[in-house]
Amino acid sequence: MHNRTLGIIGGTGWLGRAIAEALLDSGFISADRLLVSNRSGSSTFGPQVRLLADNQQLVELSDIVMLSIRPEQFRELQIDAKGKRVISLMAGVPAAAISAATGADLVIRAMPNAAVEIRQSFTPWYSAGSLCERDRALVQRLFECVGAADEVPDEDCIDYLSALSGTGPAFPAMLYKALVGQAVAAGIPPAIAQRAAHGVVVGGGQLLARHDPLQIIETLMAYRGVTAAALQSMADQNIEAVVGRALQNGADVARRGM
Ligand SMILES: NC(=O)c1ccc[n+]([C@@H]2O[C@H](COP(=O)([O-])OP(=O)(O)OC[C@H]3O[C@@H](n4cnc5c(N)ncnc54)[C@H](OP(=O)(O)O)[C@@H]3O)[C@@H](O)[C@H]2O)c1
Repeated sequence: MHNRTLGIIGGTGWLGRAIAEALLDSGFISADRLLVSNRSGSSTFGPQVRLLADNQQLVELSDIVMLSIRPEQFRELQIDAKGKRVISLMAGVPAAAISAATGADLVIRAMPNAAVEIRQSFTPWYSAGSLCERDRALVQRLFECVGAADEVPDEDCIDYLSALSGTGPAFPAMLYKALVGQAVAAGIPPAIAQRAAHGVVVGGGQLLARHDPLQIIETLMAYRGVTAAALQSMADQNIEAVVGRALQNGADVARRGM
C-alpha cells in the first residue's frame, strides 16, 4: 500500500480478519502497516499486527480506516476521522450518515461477502466523493485480494447488491434446505437427501466456475429430459419473481438503514 497505514475497526471479526489476512498474504500490506481494533482484546494475529483497544488512537495512526463492525455497533462508535478516508463494510448505513458521525473527508462503501474466507468474494464498492486514479486503483486492488471487485455508479447499487452478492452463501444454502426438505418428504432417506443436495449446491456450484450458467440451462433444456422438465416447472411458477421479491425485500432493509 505504498507506505500507507490501514486501520481496521473490528479487524478481528469474521469479515475484517479474513480481509486483513488476505491483504497480508498477498503482500498488499505489510504487518507493520496494519492496525486492528476490538473491544475484547483477543486476536489471532501475530505480534506484528498491532491490536488496539482505543479506536481513536487507531484512527490517528491510520491513513485509511476500515469499518468492519456491525451496523448496531456503529451507533456506539465515537471517532473523529477528520482528514481520513473511511471504507465502510457495513450494510444499511449510508455514506452520509458515516460522514456525519465520523467527520471523515471521504467515505467509500464496499459490500464483500462471507466468501472473503476463501478469497472468492464479489465486492462492489462506491466512493461518495471523488477519487484520483491512483486511489481508485488502490481500493480496487484491495478488494481483489479477497476475490473480484467492481466500482459501482451509485450508492443504491450497494444497497441492492447487499441483498444479492452481500448474502454470499445464503441463497445456495436456502436452495439446499428446500432440496433436502422436499426429498425427505418424497421418501428419500435424510442422509442420502443431504448428500444429493450437497452435490447439487456445492458440486454443481463448482462446475459453474468453468461454464457459463446461462449456456448450461440452454444445453440442459435442449435434452428435453428430466432436468428440462424440472427447470420448466420452475420457470412456469415464475422463479424469477420469487427471487426478485427476495432481492427487493433485502434491498429495502438496506435502503431503510439499520
Ligand atoms: N459477514 C458477512 O457475510 C457480511 C457480508 C457483507 C457485509 N457485512 C458487514 O460487515 C460488517 C462486519 O460483519 P462481521 O460478520 O465481520 O461481524 P463480526 O464477526 O461480528 O465482527 C465485528 C467485530 O467488530 C468488533 N467490534 C464491535 N464493536 C467494536 C467497537 N466499538 N470497536 C472496535 N471493535 C468492535 C467485534 O469484536 P469485539 O466483540 O472483540 O469488540 C467483532 O470482532 C457488518 O457491518 C456487516 O454488515 C458482513
